[in-house]
Amino acid sequence: YEPPEFDSNCMTLTRFVLAEQKKVPFATGDLTQLLTSIQTAIKAVSSAVRKAGLGHLHGMAGSTNVQGEEVKKLDVLSNELFVNMLASSYTVHMMVSEENETVIEIETDKRGKYIVCFDPLDGSSNIDCLGSIGSIFGIFKKTEASNETNIKNTLQPGRNMVAAGYALYGSATMMVLTLGNGSGVNGFMLDPAIGEFLLTESNIQIPTKGNIYSINEGYSYIWDDTVSEYIRRKKDPAFGKPYGARYIGSMVADVHRTLKYGGIFMYPATKLSPNGKLRLLYEGNPMAYIMEEAGGVASNGKIPILDIQPTALHQRTPVFMGSKDDVNEFLAMYKS
Ligand code: AHG
Ligand code: MN
Ligand code: MN
Ligand code: MN
Repeated sequence: YEPPEFDSNCMTLTRFVLAEQKKVPFATGDLTQLLTSIQTAIKAVSSAVRKAGLGHLHGMAGSTNVQGEEVKKLDVLSNELFVNMLASSYTVHMMVSEENETVIEIETDKRGKYIVCFDPLDGSSNIDCLGSIGSIFGIFKKTEASNETNIKNTLQPGRNMVAAGYALYGSATMMVLTLGNGSGVNGFMLDPAIGEFLLTESNIQIPTKGNIYSINEGYSYIWDDTVSEYIRRKKDPAFGKPYGARYIGSMVADVHRTLKYGGIFMYPATKLSPNGKLRLLYEGNPMAYIMEEAGGVASNGKIPILDIQPTALHQRTPVFMGSKDDVNEFLAMYKS
């Protein structure tokens, strides 16, 4: 048995982001500063998640949010941590959170140039049963010249993002991050002993084809015919070796598994939810950005999610993302 040696030259997320910054001419270091603030929020959420059961943080907060969902205590705490850490980073112009009905404005003298859309706690239904949960964020540069709050800054197509990432609070806490422009997708594991995220997975590439499908089959009675036929074929030996089925019910956990193992994650429109359930700005877009950077495909069934022109902060979108061959096979059925 080899005791874990102490890596005296470990590649922390902070070092990694600084090195990436040095590759950008005239970089101001603001994005580095913003990502450091996001890291702090995620470390604090991770600590709260792991103590939630002991700190009376399970259960309901007693309110409902703009989504019409019953808000959990951890939803509220996570949101406060993200809002406070980002608002005090001097790099954010305005923010969009799942838990806030309107855009979150920053005091004028604290404003920076970045727009951040985030889901502070994803998979809230899994908190009390200790299922994996996560946080998701997407970062844009503001487009409007004026320093005044203008909602157009937040309604940019996902293709405009400069960075996107998520944290997975699972058996370990991991951050997955991409800075776009072909810079790749990298995974950083939190080492609680030193409170740093350490690079453990460089340049994650999703397999071009997998053998797992991930969808909530509880809604099969209200799926459209294409989704029903596609899932039927995944189970029918006449179409090849049947796929495995995995569904955790936390988008971060289901997407991370899909990124690592391949296959397809689907949250389709149903007769009850004509635009599906997942929200474009802080679930669909950041995950689509990561998927495409990792060589995957992310579509709403008709066009790439990243090409959708948003019209509302909390608009929903159908989501089909994962391995290129799997998603394209599904999309071809939609067109036929
Ligand atoms: P959130 O907890 O941030 O509201 O997101 C929950 C989402 C997403 O995490 C997951 O993929 C989906 O809800 C699961 O929905 P169903 O329970 O309808 O399958
Ligand atoms: Mn929610
Ligand atoms: Mn969510
Ligand atoms: Mn959430």
